[in-house]
Amino acid sequence: MADIIAIEFSNEVLRLIDQRVLPGKLEYFECRNYRDVEFAIKDMVVRGAPAIGATAGYGAYLAAKELMQKHPSDRKTFLVEMDAALNFLNNSRPTAVNLMWAIAKMRHALEDHKDDAADLLLERLRALADTILNEDIETNHRMAEHGNTVIPKGATILTHCNTGALATAGYGTALGVIREAHNTGKNIFVYADETRPRNQGSRLTSWELMQEGIPSKLIVDSTAATLIRDGKIDVILVGADRVAGNGDAANKIGTFMLSVVAKVYGVPFYVVAPTTTIDFDIKSGKEIVIEERSAEEVTHIEGVAIAPEGMDVYNPAFDVTPHENITGIVTEKGILKAPYTEAIRKLAEER
Ligand code: MRU
Repeated sequence: MADIIAIEFSNEVLRLIDQRVLPGKLEYFECRNYRDVEFAIKDMVVRGAPAIGATAGYGAYLAAKELMQKHPSDRKTFLVEMDAALNFLNNSRPTAVNLMWAIAKMRHALEDHKDDAADLLLERLRALADTILNEDIETNHRMAEHGNTVIPKGATILTHCNTGALATAGYGTALGVIREAHNTGKNIFVYADETRPRNQGSRLTSWELMQEGIPSKLIVDSTAATLIRDGKIDVILVGADRVAGNGDAANKIGTFMLSVVAKVYGVPFYVVAPTTTIDFDIKSGKEIVIEERSAEEVTHIEGVAIAPEGMDVYNPAFDVTPHENITGIVTEKGILKAPYTEAIRKLAEER
């Protein structure tokens, strides 16, 4: 089947699959300026850590194009307004570090070439945004190959949230490993958590699994513990939005709970994440900002109330899995094992 292209930039327009309306409709959301990009990230038209990063790269380029047109002969004002635009994009979601990583890369390129002719500067920024997108696809393939080495033939795999082609520039992180295992004839079976409250598992992962013809079943999140206890799961694969220096990993709410059950019953629990998801600046998961989203995500489904009006809600979008619950962190550079502080320090030195 044709590859799923969730992010595409052509004719100066960023075209995103609108993940808010899948699987019912396959529609595209067009971003013509950086404000559209900020909205698309915040409202989760596009979501998933690497996909957010790649999208933000184009947001920075669109900002530079617009502000350069506004101040063609005033580079100082251009740079001041660019700084504000980059901060605006940077704040669109707080947890996925790929967003901050991509914006920092674009910011450095801007600083390094701030005196270039306008055309050349814009060309460089556009090329860098393309590189961020293309490198993520390559990275995913390399992670998938490393991750596939820990998947036994005939394995039943449990996964959470959506970590596939929709959550990245293509192929996926945890779902990339699942794709690879399936494509290499391992005869795998997948249980996909529905992933309340935004249902990335039922709406997006199920859609990708069906597109690929990967044998699978959808479960409600609370079924996972029973399957694990009953010996029905051989391995758990999840993605991450930010990995701290000690290996603690933030991912979609519910991941931590899965890791606890997996540890009790001795089921291998792997985090699959590119090195762009590692925050080398923080020591532990305690430093990760966890996004809290609107009450409506919990009290309503498709606009229909499923809770009494006025009920208070606590809706953190992510949780942190402590490093001691993680069997390995699959990156494009290989599988990191405990002690993670050492493994991640080595990666930092190689950068
Ligand atoms: O809120 P979301 O849908 O952006 O959360 C996404 C996840 O938690 C993914 O598991 C994570 O970004 C890794 S995806 C490659």
